Amino acid sequence: MNRRLSAGTKLVVASHNPGKVWEIRKLIAPYGLEAVSAGDLKLPEPEETETTFDGNARLKALASARGANLPALADDSGLEVACLDGAPGVYSARWAGPKKDFGLAMKTVADEVTARGGWTGAGPRANFISVLSVAWTDGATQEYTGRIHGVLVWPPRGANGFGYDPMFLPDGETLTFGEMDPQRKNAISHRAQAFALFEGACLDGALRRDGCAYRTGGVVASAGPSSFEGLDAAARSISTREEFVRFVQALREDLKADAQAWKNTSLDAYLDGLGGYVTDAAIPDEPVWRTIARALLAASRYE
Ligand code: IMP
Repeated sequence: MNRRLSAGTKLVVASHNPGKVWEIRKLIAPYGLEAVSAGDLKLPEPEETETTFDGNARLKALASARGANLPALADDSGLEVACLDGAPGVYSARWAGPKKDFGLAMKTVADEVTARGGWTGAGPRANFISVLSVAWTDGATQEYTGRIHGVLVWPPRGANGFGYDPMFLPDGETLTFGEMDPQRKNAISHRAQAFALFEGACLDGALRRDGCAYRTGGVVASAGPSSFEGLDAAARSISTREEFVRFVQALREDLKADAQAWKNTSLDAYLDGLGGYVTDAAIPDEPVWRTIARALLAASRYE
């Protein structure tokens, strides 16, 4: 069975949450896929009975794929706090109670961290996680996981975003998800990263209708279809040396697979692009791994 989704294919977005459906629709729209929501199709909403993100995402995708006899995409996400052994985890939504009170949920997390003596040093380590599951009509599924790492802050900061955003400060950033411009959050978030993996595996980049434009310092350095956005989302999420090394490998593979999307394919042009980007971009004097990764990616197109 073909495990890729081509233009014109109907895909069920396995959610009854209009916000999530809207977000996923926006992500897949450039591929010419027709998205219908589980809510529109009046499919029943399955209970999230699994104890893992993979399990719950799979369960939701499978229920829709079976109910509609169409491929289906579902996501399950949450906040994991290291000193709470990964809690609230799959119960992130439930910690907000029936009134979906995330002020209360954040206070509960803060109190639990206090009880464990976790407010030390730079703050308690935490990450958001998003698992996207695609289910096919023959019952096969594939899962794609994105994570963004950082620390918790208290009191919460900012009014943007949703859920636990105001108490989460991603590594390498100065603003919490709650303070950050939503576009910036969407570029680096756990969901964006899971989507980039799903995109690479299941969506045909050549189908993109809008091409890909990279804009930095006012210079549009590339147009035309490419995997640039996926790599950019991956670069923005890097926090460790290992992730950086994997990113460099992905960059090499992109050059092999999609050289025509690289403006600067000779070493001379690439180094020129790198020098130009580092000169023009607002890069701090002690860059972190993700800044270096973004510079390496930008060098492939920078003019
Ligand atoms: P789900 O609908 O079962 O996937 O629940 C996910 C829950 O995790 C949400 O209700 C939020 O509490 C939390 N969560 C997931 N992603 C984010 C995010 O990007 N920001 C803040 N909270 C999030």
